[in-house]
Amino acid sequence: MEITAQNVNVKIDGQQVLHDESVCAKPGRTLALVGPSGSGKTTLLNVLSLLRRVDGGTVLVGGQDATAWDDRRRRRFWQEHAAFVFQDYGLIDEESVAYNVALSKLPLFAQRAGRIAGVRDALERVGLDGRSAHKVSTLSGGEKQRVGLARAMFRSADVIFADEPTASLDRNNRSLVTNFLLEEAARGVAVIVATHDEVLMAACDQRLNLEGTDQGLAPP
Ligand SMILES: Nc1ncnc2c1ncn2[C@@H]1O[C@H](COP(=O)(O)OP(=O)(O)O)[C@@H](O)[C@H]1O
Ligand SMILES: [Mg+2]
Repeated sequence: MEITAQNVNVKIDGQQVLHDESVCAKPGRTLALVGPSGSGKTTLLNVLSLLRRVDGGTVLVGGQDATAWDDRRRRRFWQEHAAFVFQDYGLIDEESVAYNVALSKLPLFAQRAGRIAGVRDALERVGLDGRSAHKVSTLSGGEKQRVGLARAMFRSADVIFADEPTASLDRNNRSLVTNFLLEEAARGVAVIVATHDEVLMAACDQRLNLEGTDQGLAPP
């Protein structure tokens, strides 16, 4: 699913945070949003994932103008197409690993066996098999982020939005996260990642630098 921002503007408290940004994320490709802290990476990621509305410009989702979608339509996009990976993991600490992986899908009885196998497969892929009943609060930071990856994997999303997903991790866990995002793109997912991480940004197909807000992808 293709996500496109066209001349997007965002103002926060009277300050222009995004100025005429244009970018296109394509299925099977990885897009890195880079720039110093405060340059608007998270804001643009939130715009592309429809978490934040724009003050000007257009966001196209699968070719449709999503700028005016109401809450219900945006929720449907998140449920059916999107997965999120956050720097602070975005997990419910007091719940089990398995609950945190599966929480985002509706508990339909007919799907139960399939869901259990799906959770197991996802946890195996991130090296956390056998941990499904453990409380998330007992895990290390790297393990928590791997639960975040398993959750994204379990959702079989068309688009993955990741905000500084390697920022609080050691080298091994950073490369695990990087490899996961590249593998998802290889399966056809559109991956959009806001990052400072040199290794992760170098591994991405496309880069949008937000330093100096108007250097976008326009020709010189
Ligand atoms: N909720 C908010 N309230 C006030 N200012 C904000 C808010 N979100 C972002 N900003 C401001 O917008 C700018 C860009 O922030 P952000 O998108 O978080 O940048 P980055 O992710 O690159 O560090 C910063 O100047 C930040 O202070
Ligand atoms: Mg940020």
